[in-house]
Amino acid sequence: MPHSVTKAVIPAAGLGTRFLPATKALPKEMLPVVDKPAIQYVVEEAVRAGLQDVLFVTGRNKNALENHFDRATELEMILTSKGDAQKLSRVAESTDLANVHYVRQGDPKGLGHAVLRSRDHVGGDSFAVLLGDDIIDGRDMLLERMLQVHDAKDSCVVALMEVDPAQAHLYGIATVEATDEDDVVRVRGLVEKPEPGTAPSNLAVVGRYVLKPEIYPVLEQTEPGRGGEIQLTDALLTMADDEVFGGLHGVVFRGRRYDTGDRLDYIKANVQLAVEREDLGPGLRAWLREFVDGFER
Ligand code: G1P
Repeated sequence: MPHSVTKAVIPAAGLGTRFLPATKALPKEMLPVVDKPAIQYVVEEAVRAGLQDVLFVTGRNKNALENHFDRATELEMILTSKGDAQKLSRVAESTDLANVHYVRQGDPKGLGHAVLRSRDHVGGDSFAVLLGDDIIDGRDMLLERMLQVHDAKDSCVVALMEVDPAQAHLYGIATVEATDEDDVVRVRGLVEKPEPGTAPSNLAVVGRYVLKPEIYPVLEQTEPGRGGEIQLTDALLTMADDEVFGGLHGVVFRGRRYDTGDRLDYIKANVQLAVEREDLGPGLRAWLREFVDGFER
């Protein structure tokens, strides 16, 4: 379904310290999930939803990420001379995927600050923000649905998912009101990473946002919040209160999301995505059964 948005912003300036030492010299976005860097799934998702123009907000040590979305001339020449068309097409996948642009975040002042850095590129249009730690299954149309809701309501939209209350302190948590559509809610309150046991609900913001350009002046005025960082969540709360700009809606996602943000979830994401693959799934499933049997004894 056509929609009005064409640009995606992907914050990728984080240091990835949870994955040290793997991320000492490698950007965390480049850690493979099965056999593709995590970030490639996210760019593929944006492109699937019709967002060809992708802006990465990067930091230092992100050269590998830039190289991944560029030509790899030497590698291509070697594979061409070997006549290995299959591997050559795997190399080209990420080169041809999107129109990729980069801006540096500079000071690491938080997600809100990273999004603010996209202002010159995005200008006066609505845009999507996709966080690299979350992979949404290619069969589930979350971003497409959010773009539809943005157009229909002319408002900012966040993706929400029910989470285990014990995990609520890791997320932005929303207070919502129902609308006449089962998967769409009006967001009335938002709190960034509430203290354990104080979350107002178990509806968490997962890493997908469709934002109106009016968020930029709001972000500029947003004071540092949780962790001393400029929080996108705090700017969104201002938007939620602002009827003139359409408030804030949430799309409640009930599909498949893979979290690559911490080590255990990252390992789970690899297994979940690999068992679904035609080439690896059958062998992995059989081995997993044997492995678990041995483990339980
Ligand atoms: C960010 C947001 C948070 C959101 C989360 C989703 O936090 O600040 O509101 O719930 O992404 O993954 P981060 O996980 O980057 O600390």
